Amino acid sequence: MGHLHFLLHFLLSLSCFSCTVLSWNSQQLYRSNNYEGSSDLVNLVYHMGPVLASPINLYTIWYGNWNPAHQAIIRDFLISLSSSPSSSSFPSVADWWRTVRLYTDQTGSNITGNVILSGEHYDTSYSHGRYLTRLAIQSIIKTAAVAYPRPLPLNSYNGVYLVLTSSDVMVAEFCRAVCGFHYFTFPAIVGATVPYAWVGYSGTQCPGMCAYPFALPKYENGAVWTRSGNRRKVMGAPNGDVGADGMVSVIAHELAEMASNPLINAWYAGDDPMSPTEIADLCVGVYGSGGGGGYAGMVYKDRQGRVYNVHGVKGRRFLLQWVWSPVRKRCFGPNALD
Ligand SMILES: *[C@@H]1O[C@H](CO)[C@@H](O)[C@H](O)[C@H]1NC(C)=O
Repeated sequence: MGHLHFLLHFLLSLSCFSCTVLSWNSQQLYRSNNYEGSSDLVNLVYHMGPVLASPINLYTIWYGNWNPAHQAIIRDFLISLSSSPSSSSFPSVADWWRTVRLYTDQTGSNITGNVILSGEHYDTSYSHGRYLTRLAIQSIIKTAAVAYPRPLPLNSYNGVYLVLTSSDVMVAEFCRAVCGFHYFTFPAIVGATVPYAWVGYSGTQCPGMCAYPFALPKYENGAVWTRSGNRRKVMGAPNGDVGADGMVSVIAHELAEMASNPLINAWYAGDDPMSPTEIADLCVGVYGSGGGGGYAGMVYKDRQGRVYNVHGVKGRRFLLQWVWSPVRKRCFGPNALD
């Protein structure tokens, strides 16, 4: 009886673990695990549309009330995307972007290696409120583009826009289904068609979901079971902030997809352009060799237990998820062991 009770309890906790982890991370992680190293399952197709082959002018819009220390982490990451890495800083953020550069358009032009942080706008007055629909993100870009006295340029040649919302802003589906998304603007709202992405600060609303693996779902008490049955702890955030460090990987994810599928008619897998599976979707939760199925993979760890897989400017370190390599036909990053 005691044994049965124990067994039942054990089974129940197992199934409970499944619902937790399978809810988001693991559904994604599972998928990436299935895909990693297995090219048969992935049918990434080029749909003839443009990729971001010209030097990218990146404009950020800080929406809401932002902590300058968090902004500095994110800004340094963006600046790291195309700073030439010194040999001592391999693997760098720019090395990570090299996998993204392997994608080409129908003229054979690769995605650019130049990603320049060209402008920043601070929407500290919450111009569109604290609850935002997806469409409202476009209105925020419009508001920034007509701001007085310092409008953000509306650059329809090679501009891309990154809207970052602070912890007190709710965005439709944030934390329930998405940690970020990218799309393109409608001329009727913004006045031009420009690729844009939104990512929310994940430190307070849902760190277990959007700042993984620096945080885990609440009910797991800071530990998670690995497949082999060992308890695993959360990983230390490389710059000491779970929310901002978690956001960096989501921003990296969205930028990689925006560059390879800016108008949702270039690189994606699946038949449905309404929910395309893009080059970073294929590798969610994979940060190093062997990653997948809830295991982040082989990454570096410093003495304080902070984990990272790439170096950036000013001695910063970041943990970036891998992206799908069209050459290797698997998830790949510059810290790969093979
Ligand atoms: C451009 O893409 C092709 C095809 O993936 C690749 O072989 C080549 O190395 C890429 N060039 C650069 C500069 O990344």
